[in-house]
Amino acid sequence: GARGLTVIREDLGDCKRCKLHSGRTNIVYGVGSPTAEICFVGEGPGADEDLQGEPFVGRAGQLLTQMIKAMGLEREDVYICNVVKCRPPNNRDPEPDEVTACSPFLIRQVRAVGPKVIVTLGKHAAHTVLNVKTPITRLRGTWGAFDGIPVMPTFHPSFLLRDPTQKKFAWEDLKAVLHHL
Ligand code: URA
Repeated sequence: GARGLTVIREDLGDCKRCKLHSGRTNIVYGVGSPTAEICFVGEGPGADEDLQGEPFVGRAGQLLTQMIKAMGLEREDVYICNVVKCRPPNNRDPEPDEVTACSPFLIRQVRAVGPKVIVTLGKHAAHTVLNVKTPITRLRGTWGAFDGIPVMPTFHPSFLLRDPTQKKFAWEDLKAVLHHL
């Protein structure tokens, strides 16, 4: 719930646990309902998110918002967060030490929200939440679990912007989530 999320944000503080802190404008913590039934987990903030301090507000974020609306929901109905909370330089992938430093906070956030389903967006979120290294093309659309919570891995909206022919697969994954709920 909201109290839990506030405590975790306070523990995060002015975080300097990994090297990403030096390049950030804002920590991008998470947004949405503290009691959401669905939690979306992305990779890490991009330039727009770093400037605004909110996850998924750039081009990929606009597509994620469309995907949420296509599910009959609003951003306010779900919880949205990332594996790492500070922007990696030049939007590079988060490095293992950065994921190790930040993922305890992600895990606590997910436990505080207590969603019925977790949707991971892209390879890094799937690999972090599911603790596997299976390629995302094989992982997507297949149910996993974290802490007893069902996890549906799907493609990252940035990937879908680069290859819109894959959108139909992401939509199948989101329909499976709706069917589960
Ligand atoms: N991509 C992500 O993985 N997360 C964001 O918050 C924005 C873009």
